[in-house]
Amino acid sequence: MSLVLASASPRRAKILSSLGIDFAVSPTGAPEVSLPHDPAGTVVRNALAKGAACRAAAGVQGRNVLSADTIVWHDGKIYGKPRDIDEAKSFLRELSGKTHRVYTGVALDGEAKCETSEVRFKSLDPAQIDAYVAAVNPLDRAGAYDIDESGGAVVEGWSGSYENIMGLPVEPLVEWGLVPGVAPVGFFDSGEGGRAIMDAFLSLCPRQKVFYVADRENFPYGAKSRDEIFRLSLASTEKLLAKGCGTIVVACNTATSAAIDRLRDMFPEVPFVGVEPAVKPAAAMSKTGRIGVLATAGTLAGERFGGICRKFAGGVEVVSVAAGELVELSERGETEGSAVEAAVRKRVEPLLDAGCDAIVLGCTHFIRLAPVVRKIVSGRAHVVDPAKAVARQIVRVIASSAVRAGQPAV
Ligand code: DGL
Repeated sequence: MSLVLASASPRRAKILSSLGIDFAVSPTGAPEVSLPHDPAGTVVRNALAKGAACRAAAGVQGRNVLSADTIVWHDGKIYGKPRDIDEAKSFLRELSGKTHRVYTGVALDGEAKCETSEVRFKSLDPAQIDAYVAAVNPLDRAGAYDIDESGGAVVEGWSGSYENIMGLPVEPLVEWGLVPGVAPVGFFDSGEGGRAIMDAFLSLCPRQKVFYVADRENFPYGAKSRDEIFRLSLASTEKLLAKGCGTIVVACNTATSAAIDRLRDMFPEVPFVGVEPAVKPAAAMSKTGRIGVLATAGTLAGERFGGICRKFAGGVEVVSVAAGELVELSERGETEGSAVEAAVRKRVEPLLDAGCDAIVLGCTHFIRLAPVVRKIVSGRAHVVDPAKAVARQIVRVIASSAVRAGQPAV
């Protein structure tokens, strides 16, 4: 699909070129809004307005128009492009030593997405700021800096999408299927559980080609030895690689626990994405200081689980329950009715009685049981389903491999 980029930004054009995307440039002005209480809404509205203005312009009607708007936001203030050198300097003084957010709204023919990254600024003295604005033209840069060309002088570190900080995140481009040559994504699980992860991914990236391996012959994995789970995971990985998959999603908590480190060692060039109990978000939500994790015996016994709790529970107590029988129900497609409710209740009520106010679905088979879990919990706890977060992580991994693939070898 050939694109029209509705932007004069050389950094945006550079990113599209590095990804091998075929495009023409057609910048079109449109009035911009600035809503400090709603930075995400600001960039989305502006990106849509620029796209609409470009589409309305002669010659690009009906074409695929890509537009974007980037702002820097800190402490309730929006930092767009400075109007003059004095304003550029004052932006840098205000951002000095602070962590700010970069928001980019990206729109493709009326559909918009927003990406957010964080940037930590060095503590800058006036001489450094003067030297920076003298060396870099800060006037066409949101926040008056350019991370790509001279960020090292003012930026200490960043997190999130790097290309977003440059003004055009790759993640939405992957989601829209605009990046050419993205290899299929392979998913595997002991059975049907991992499909919930694949479905969440496909709802973000509906055009992406995927393969799914359900190792039904060896189901379930929950009580098998780590070595055996590794051997089975290796076989599934090899099947997916033979299909041409470029990213492998271990769509199973048990296999992630037992096998992902060894798989990464064996295939260092292949990006792997795993699924692990979402202890961190659950702990962050908890008011009672106690959260529950439903998983397989294998996941709970694995070293990785202990590590996650030590690293991410942050003082919140984690009550874990192995629920192999629920894996069986889910695999058979029994996801509603009184027998299923009774089985789920048996595992969930003790967690509620123990005061857990967040319950983590720590096995991909349990995602299909989420409606029953929610019914039983009936508002007494958050039910933490990892599918959307994992889907987003898969997109991030594809985006960063696409950028790496486009970079010339050094
Ligand atoms: N779906 C799997 C998980 O996330 C494993 C279930 C099993 O085979 O025991 O843990």
